[in-house]
Amino acid sequence: MANGQWSCAVLLCFLTLTLEVRDGFGMVKPASRACIIGAGYSGLGTARFMKEHGVNFTVFEATRYLGGTWRFDPHVGTDEDGLPMFTSMYKNLRINTPRLTMEYTGFPFPEETQSYPTGECFYKYLKLFAKQFDLVQHIQFRSLVTSIKWADDHWDVTYMKTDTKMNHTEQCDFVAVASGEFSSPVWPKFDGQETFKGKMIHSHDYKDPEDYRNRRVLIVGAGPSGLDLAIHLSNVTAKLVHSHHLRYNQPFFSDTYVKKPDIKMFTSNGVIFQDGSFEEVDDVIFCTGYDFTHPFLDKSVGITASGKFVLPLYQHTVNIRHPTLAFVGVSKKILNKVLEAQGEYVAALAAGKFELPSQEAMLKAWLTHVRALKAKGMRLVDVNTIDNDADNYFANITEEAGIYRRPPVLSDIRVFNARYRLEDLLNYRDFDYQIVDDHNYKRWYNPRKGNPCPIDI
Ligand SMILES: Cc1cc2nc3c(=O)[nH]c(=O)nc-3n(C[C@H](O)[C@H](O)[C@H](O)COP(=O)(O)OP(=O)(O)OC[C@H]3O[C@@H](n4cnc5c(N)ncnc54)[C@H](O)[C@@H]3O)c2cc1C
Ligand SMILES: *[C@@H]1O[C@H](CO)[C@@H](O)[C@H](O)[C@H]1NC(C)=O
Ligand SMILES: *[C@@H]1O[C@H](CO)[C@@H](O)[C@H](O)[C@H]1NC(C)=O
Ligand SMILES: *[C@@H]1O[C@H](CO)[C@@H](O)[C@H](O)[C@H]1NC(C)=O
Ligand SMILES: *[C@@H]1O[C@H](CO)[C@@H](O)[C@H](O)[C@H]1NC(C)=O
Repeated sequence: MANGQWSCAVLLCFLTLTLEVRDGFGMVKPASRACIIGAGYSGLGTARFMKEHGVNFTVFEATRYLGGTWRFDPHVGTDEDGLPMFTSMYKNLRINTPRLTMEYTGFPFPEETQSYPTGECFYKYLKLFAKQFDLVQHIQFRSLVTSIKWADDHWDVTYMKTDTKMNHTEQCDFVAVASGEFSSPVWPKFDGQETFKGKMIHSHDYKDPEDYRNRRVLIVGAGPSGLDLAIHLSNVTAKLVHSHHLRYNQPFFSDTYVKKPDIKMFTSNGVIFQDGSFEEVDDVIFCTGYDFTHPFLDKSVGITASGKFVLPLYQHTVNIRHPTLAFVGVSKKILNKVLEAQGEYVAALAAGKFELPSQEAMLKAWLTHVRALKAKGMRLVDVNTIDNDADNYFANITEEAGIYRRPPVLSDIRVFNARYRLEDLLNYRDFDYQIVDDHNYKRWYNPRKGNPCPIDI
């Protein structure tokens, strides 16, 4: 992205902010009523800490279920209530980061659980968590939030009940937006794409390897989904063509696996790659990632949101313009503990347990963050990225808000896992991890047949 776009975006939000500065803006009074949008991992984690602080809160959840993306749902396109599908879960998924980096504080999986349990097991864990902390009674299901507006001294949160289709508006003193970041699929465009006669889907809609048995399939992309689906499909399909440009230690997938460079164009029955080669395929799965989507944010919220970024946020969560609204879970390249820590930070803020700096100081801190990114050669789309700063971030928000300090060993495990995954893609999940102390962990080979889940709920 050109520098011009940087300065333009920075200037824009600086202007809108400075126009709005009022006295006492950085202070957040204890909320007499807080609202959380979404009952996934992030929303549930926030709810637990709000409950611990005695905040009066409601979670608005669009679907009939908690657990967000961790709940497998066979519907494609829209669900039984006509909602767009928020979950991207598929059969046989196993988590790709050790559970230690994902567990809620003080609520570990049963000790015998393998370090990389199935997605289904993680969903059970979330249900157990909600039960244990008595959160379900605070969740108002089938409530799709369609608008959040700033109304001078409170938020007007409008939602549609999916059973009655009626709209309701409620007042909230504090809003935590935890609506997820992996439900709006990114579709690339290639020449000839509309002439292709086979089936094209995004990994968001992928459910089951059986749909691809004995078919000739093209997978596009080698992010977490692309690599995972290559594992799931290579011994099921008649041929698996994998187009990507990741450099990694490619394992032996199967005799019919073919690696290809990026796509040049589609034809009616196949695809031509950048090297000029051609492959005939029946189905295409685009594993090309997700955009942010926050269709319910009114202009009055004061947030600039696009598919690629949400800004300006203090500490990756707080809406600088109106700090009684915060995001939990719009950070990229994180371990899930970051989302949990954000939930604790935001709950402490809603409860009035600590004081934010002035609005001007928050904006300065954000601009410093932006300049630091730029100095590292990063772009505006990286503004929500935490990545290797996770441990500094943990230290920082602990210092500011007095919340639990997530130990450095967690970030070390994440970094090791991310690297080792690309070295030994087919076997990296066969290891177990254990934390020894704040700086050290143990790791040993311990494959489990059938991936048993000791949680029964
Ligand atoms: C297929 C897949 C695999 C993953 N695997 C891993 C992994 O192995 N390890 C890892 O660390 N992370 C993984 N992740 C990342 C995952 O997103 C996080 O683990 C975490 O679940 C994010 O939780 P969340 O609560 O922020 O979002 P979500 O789980 O998406 O929950 C958001 C909730 O908000 C609700 N909602 C959305 N919009 C509205 C609205 N307008 N009104 C009301 N409710 C709304 C949704 O229905 C949903 O229940 C994976 C993600 C995907 C998609
Ligand atoms: C909590 O908020 C709801 C909705 O505004 C309100 O009806 C209820 O009285 C509040 N409860 C307490 C204990 O303040
Ligand atoms: C509810 O609001 C939506 C806009 O978000 C609108 O399209 C719909 O007609 C409204 N429903 C009713 C029953 O008024
Ligand atoms: C597919 O099967 C072959 C032969 O059993 C095996 O070597 C290979 O590891 C399998 N591929 C995957 C991705 O599991
Ligand atoms: C913590 O974050 C704030 C806001 O980004 C920043 O101003 C401050 O320098 C950071 N402190 C540390 C110790 O990193």
